[in-house]
Amino acid sequence: MNSTGTTGGKANAGVEATGFEAASAAPEHGIIAGPDSVTPIVLRAMAGGEARLNELMTALVRHLHAFVEETGLTEDEYQRGLGFLAAIGHATGPTKNEAVLLGDILGVSTLVTLQNNAREESATASAVLGPFWRKNAPRMPLGGNIARGDTPGVPLEVNGRVTDAAGKPLAGVDVDVWQASPVGFYENQDPRQPPMNLRGLFTTDADGRFHFKTVRPAGYPVPTDGPCGDLLRAQNRHPYRPAHLHFMLSAPGYRTLVTQVFADDAEGLNRDVVFAVLRSLVGRFEETTNANGEREARLNYDFVMEPGEQSFPIPPIP
Ligand SMILES: [Fe+2]
Repeated sequence: MNSTGTTGGKANAGVEATGFEAASAAPEHGIIAGPDSVTPIVLRAMAGGEARLNELMTALVRHLHAFVEETGLTEDEYQRGLGFLAAIGHATGPTKNEAVLLGDILGVSTLVTLQNNAREESATASAVLGPFWRKNAPRMPLGGNIARGDTPGVPLEVNGRVTDAAGKPLAGVDVDVWQASPVGFYENQDPRQPPMNLRGLFTTDADGRFHFKTVRPAGYPVPTDGPCGDLLRAQNRHPYRPAHLHFMLSAPGYRTLVTQVFADDAEGLNRDVVFAVLRSLVGRFEETTNANGEREARLNYDFVMEPGEQSFPIPPIP
């Protein structure tokens, strides 16, 4: 082998460009003898590489092959499935992440989220990040209003306190909040809203408290103009989510808490298209009528964080 990792010769033409060893250096895994030999041979071919990647890929292949066998998948169905995955990629862009949406409507996002968070029973449950979180929401003083410009709706005041499992208040926690408008659109979906409308980043005070003003969010359909919408229609499902606020709480030394708080009077709490509602995440939205006869609402919701690593998800959209 020469210094570039190739052995030269006709059989290895193009090897230099791929970064792989020559074919003759690769381990043998056998020749396919029929359908029953495919899975063991593929698994043998995947026996190398980093341990965790190996574990994930071998399990994925075992389950995928079992799925093909169990359903008797036809060639036509396979082609349509691959076309669907390609369409997921094509539908993903600067304002929409169809891949995140697919994970959400299949319940995979919720399963991964619940399996990895709130290991202490008293900790606040997590909920899916969803496809609409944006990094760099405007940092605002406590009490600030995240409804920018003209955002009509029922005024809502949100108060909360962040503690650890023992009830110790956590000061200096970043509370990132984002929500849909009173007609059910996130600002990046709706040209009528100013940039970063209904998004804000607050920091808890010495007593672990935060508060801010906004307007009541509405429930909304997830985007249905892409392949996920086609799938929902084909399955006779609906696309709706009950009204909620999204939160991401982060501080050094604590596991970042990504969650949602649902309005107790929201429609469809027990039929969320992305399966994010837990009973513990339903908050009481107290509505009153002020002296001018106008509706206004308050939400008090406290959060409990677990010790751990502060980390941030990959933003689904810029
Ligand atoms: Fe949402």
